Amino acid sequence: MGGLKAVAIISGDHNVKGSLQFIQQSDGATYVRGKISGLTPGLHGFHIHSFGDTTNGCNSTGPHFNPYKKDHGAPNHEERHAGDLGNIVAGPDGVAEVSVLDMQIPLTGANSILGRAVVVHADPDDLGRGGHELSKTTGNAGARVGCGIIGLQSSV
Ligand code: CU
Ligand code: ZN
Repeated sequence: MGGLKAVAIISGDHNVKGSLQFIQQSDGATYVRGKISGLTPGLHGFHIHSFGDTTNGCNSTGPHFNPYKKDHGAPNHEERHAGDLGNIVAGPDGVAEVSVLDMQIPLTGANSILGRAVVVHADPDDLGRGGHELSKTTGNAGARVGCGIIGLQSSV
């Protein structure tokens, strides 16, 4: 299944929009790349959430994708949700260039992220270490300002 690709078109409440491509590598890692605009400058929590459901906007995407029933953390922590991808950084122009490589977000198998959602938040993800009551569940990353459903990408 080398080269399997997925795409998510990001939209949100304000002017947040963008597109992301997910490319599964032959070693099982998935590369996420793309651009999201309309953000406030600075860090924004960035996660895979459980459901590809935007019936009531990004709030319908459920909690962080967490097949191993762990606590929230950073991408490089042992204790993390599979969906924890840390933060993306928007520049002064409000644009975040996304480039993430991660081993826990496959496009195939039991823990596939296909049909789930990618979500960008208003605030920084504290990576589980902020000491806030939400640190161990959401990283206290605040409102969901943009999201998109992850679907198989057309090859044409
Ligand atoms: Cu999130
Ligand atoms: Zn999490």
